[in-house]
Amino acid sequence: MAAPAQMTLFKPEVAAVLLRLYSEAVENDAQLKLEEEAALKAAENGRLDDDTLASIQNRTFMAVAPEVGRLLYLLVRTHKPSRIVEFGTSFGISAIHLAAALRDNGSGCILTTEHSSEKVLRAAQHFEQACLSDLIELRQGDAFTTLAGVEKIDMLVLDGWKPLYLPLLQKLEPVLSPRCLVVADDVISLAAKCRPYLDYVRDRANGYISCEIPLDDGVELSFR
Ligand SMILES: C[S@@+](CC[C@H](N)C(=O)[O-])C[C@H]1O[C@@H](n2cnc3c(N)ncnc32)[C@H](O)[C@@H]1O
Repeated sequence: MAAPAQMTLFKPEVAAVLLRLYSEAVENDAQLKLEEEAALKAAENGRLDDDTLASIQNRTFMAVAPEVGRLLYLLVRTHKPSRIVEFGTSFGISAIHLAAALRDNGSGCILTTEHSSEKVLRAAQHFEQACLSDLIELRQGDAFTTLAGVEKIDMLVLDGWKPLYLPLLQKLEPVLSPRCLVVADDVISLAAKCRPYLDYVRDRANGYISCEIPLDDGVELSFR
């Protein structure tokens, strides 16, 4: 019997990039947490000013956990979306998992969007290094602008700022295809910020069936 083809997620060019990014993320994000705590202590009103906060956020990975990455991979393999839209690229870790699955499906593409221009530059390099750039369109800017005009979405991944999940979903609802899968990260760790979104997708009157998966920071899977 022929051996099954190796999954793209585990091919050397993809696995090496993910391994490097995850180990960089652990050290980098821990260091930035200390920087944030020090800046908070030094702040007169107990709040970070916008520039300091943006500087820290523009350098923080905030990536999906490896097990959430694998969940994204297997959802794409089984759901077989033609077009995935991702809100919140950061350095590209989740998009690499999504694109690896599209490569194995043999069809489909991703549009991912990120506000920070520094992160967009880095993410583009990572997509090249993982040999997945041909499957990923990366748009820099505010998702409400960069995603305007998108025509059909078969899978929506929400991983940007949490209070924007609900307004962005509602903005994109007219172009969600029938059977669109919606995946939202951080719904347990940032439950209060995700509350309006969760109330909405869990209310059957809005046409979704939805459930929480207690993986890492919590993932909400919704379908309509
Ligand atoms: C949690 S991180 C994304 C992590 C990424 N999905 C991964 O797993 O590697 C959230 C990202 O969303 C971006 N973001 C937040 N609000 C945004 C907006 N309105 N438009 C585009 N990107 C936004 C932030 O700059 C940040 O990099």
